[in-house]
Parts: sequence; C-alpha cells; structure tokens
Amino acid sequence: MGDPINGKKLFMKMCASCHTTTKDGKHKIGPNLHGIIGKTSGTVPGFSFTESMKKKAVVWDEKALNDYLEFPKKFVPGTKKAFDGVKKAEDRKDLIAFLTTLK
Ligand code: HEC
Repeated sequence: MGDPINGKKLFMKMCASCHTTTKDGKHKIGPNLHGIIGKTSGTVPGFSFTESMKKKAVVWDEKALNDYLEFPKKFVPGTKKAFDGVKKAEDRKDLIAFLTTLK
C-alpha cells in the first residue's frame, strides 16, 4: 500500500496543474479526478476526451492506473495528454494511494 500523504504532495507537484480532485471540481486541461477509482476511462461528464481515451474503456483500478501513469502515451496511443509519465514505481504507488482517497 502506498502513502497517500506523500501521494498528495506528488500530485500537487505533477498533476494539479491539469487536474482538480474535489467533488464536482472543475475541469482544467485534464478532467476532474474525484472518485476516479472504479470509473471507466473517458466518461467524466462535461470533459471532452479524445476518441482514444473513450475507446480504451478501461476500468480504473490500481493496476490500470499504474500502467497508465507509467507511460500515458503507450497506454492510450493518440491521447492529447502532454505528460511523459511517472517513472518511479514508488511514486506511482503513492499517487494511486492518494487517488483512492478521492471518494
Ligand atoms: C499537461 C496536463 C496534464 C498533466 C500534468 C496530467 N494530466 Fe492526467 N490527463 C490530462 C488530459 C488532457 C487527460 C485526458 C486525455 C485524453 O482525453 O486523451 C488526462 C487524463 C487522466 C486520467 C484519466 C481520466 C478519466 O476519466 O479517464 C487520469 C486518471 C489522469 N489523467 C491522472 C493524472 C495524474 C495522476 C497525473 C499526475 C501524475 C496527471 N494525470 C497529470 C492532462 C494532464
């Protein structure tokens, strides 16, 4: 199990420029991520996802998020997300632990 407190710090550094996490938070460059665990990719209302993201139709569990966060462009070829990925496995674990608290 990762450390959600450190995950939040990492999120603020790496993700918060594009994503909000509060309930009904607004979409920025990326969609709001409240309650992301268990959601199907590309389905958050009001955000215009790429076709690639919608077609992927993966359910966001720990494993899918881990694979996605490591190589976003490999996991979803054609995504408009300009983000290279989180290289350290430990950081991904902590980030996912933080995302799990968003419900
Ligand atoms: C440069 C802006 C940007 C950054 C930085 C960024 N994202 Fe994203 N993110 C996006 C965009 C844009 C999408 C939608 C991609 C698409 O539709 O192809 C997205 C999609 C996602 C999704 C899928 C959402 C869904 O509903 O299917 C998750 C999960 C996610 N990002 C998590 C993260 C995390 C965690 C970080 C930090 C490690 C991060 N993102 C950093 C822009 C960003």
